[in-house]
Amino acid sequence: MGTITTINEVNRYDGQAVTLRGWVYNKRSSGKIQFLQLRDGTGVIQCVAVKSEVGDEVFAACQQLTQESSVYIEGTVRRDERAQSGYEISVIGVEQVGESHDYPITLKEHGVDFLLDHRHLWMRTPRQRAILKIRAEVERAMAQFLDESGFTRVDPPVLTPSSCEGTTELFHTEYFDQDAYLTQSGQMYMEAAAMALGKVYSMGPAFRAEHSKTRRHLIEFWMIEPEMAFYGHDDNLRVQEDLVSFVVQHVLTHCELELKTIGRDTSKLESVRAPFPRITYDEAIEKLQALGHDLKWGEDFGAPDETALAEQYDRPVFVERYPTELKAFYMQPDPNRPEVVLCADLLAPEGYGEIVGGSQRIHDYDLLKKRFEEHNLPQDTYGWYLDLRKFGSVPHSGFGIGLERTIAWICGLEHVRESNPFPRLLYRLYP
Ligand code: 4AD
Ligand code: MG
Repeated sequence: MGTITTINEVNRYDGQAVTLRGWVYNKRSSGKIQFLQLRDGTGVIQCVAVKSEVGDEVFAACQQLTQESSVYIEGTVRRDERAQSGYEISVIGVEQVGESHDYPITLKEHGVDFLLDHRHLWMRTPRQRAILKIRAEVERAMAQFLDESGFTRVDPPVLTPSSCEGTTELFHTEYFDQDAYLTQSGQMYMEAAAMALGKVYSMGPAFRAEHSKTRRHLIEFWMIEPEMAFYGHDDNLRVQEDLVSFVVQHVLTHCELELKTIGRDTSKLESVRAPFPRITYDEAIEKLQALGHDLKWGEDFGAPDETALAEQYDRPVFVERYPTELKAFYMQPDPNRPEVVLCADLLAPEGYGEIVGGSQRIHDYDLLKKRFEEHNLPQDTYGWYLDLRKFGSVPHSGFGIGLERTIAWICGLEHVRESNPFPRLLYRLYP
């Protein structure tokens, strides 16, 4: 038996015998030679079995292998300029581990509903594997950037007694004899944590019962939520643009092969470097009106509006200072213009829409209490949040960046569903 290794490391064994463990992705035969495409999670490599070299028994064993059967393959590593990995395996021996018959995902085109029904198998294809690798790399880069910038990771609860972003989109459940909801955002808990630790972030799932069936919406998605004590609105935007540029440049350097596998035009990502352009909501309205969009001051942007705005730039653009009426109750009013708040949405290029939402938070006790009354928010579930404004309150800011939307944009995906391993969509909870 040759040394056990993985496809991404065969370059260390040029000319030597190795054993690979994986699955038969595809097979082709020309009578006396068989070409097996083996995948093992780290890559795909061609294994060539020549009848006159391997003998009848091994050749017959290769012939029996079907798509997605699992195998040990022993073979000699050979340099091959034409191969994507740069190498090929000359088969010496083969041992089947698990059979596979009538594999439903053939190499022809399938409809997206069929693929989503078979997501547990669909994720094995090179394209889906590449996206999942990029997802892991995006998560790693986000954590690395924040860890190295002095943030402490804090994990907020998933079961909560109240809402953060509005009550209509909550998933209700029972918590013994109380009502509970799956978290929409950990922000309020992160505000408490920022008063304990200074700069904090969370990374976890958020749940929204949104009846939106668009290419940007998931019912369960992941959000990274930094929160910073003593940070104002401008400080907040600086962290966001530095984080997003770091993540994009990290993926460009660490996921070259994966970006190639999914056919991403990376020239569109090279220019994503801080600082990002900033326009106010007022300017955005004027621009859109000039482009012929039917939109008045005070109205929220729809997907076509966001796309039209983002199209004017080669990197993400901040739209800041939205009308107070349009945004969440906790946002700090602009001291010079209380009809707008110190918030920003970051719009990604190429029609991917809002990837980050953030703001400076109200730190004044009386103003926040007034907002609670205006929004009819119950004091018993929010009392602790008001407390933060009673004991050493400080200006503070934070944001939430959506993991799937960020990945969908970086990968150039048609829909966010491909960026999550098991997407929860309107009308889809399986598999
Ligand atoms: O703008 P949102 O709703 O902001 C908040 O939840 C704040 N409490 C965050 C904070 O300040 N700590 O959501 C933030 C981001 C959006 O910009 C988007 O990227 C993503 O979360 N997002 C979704 N992604 C996929 N599917 C959905 N249904 C999403 N809803 C929001
Ligand atoms: Mg938002």
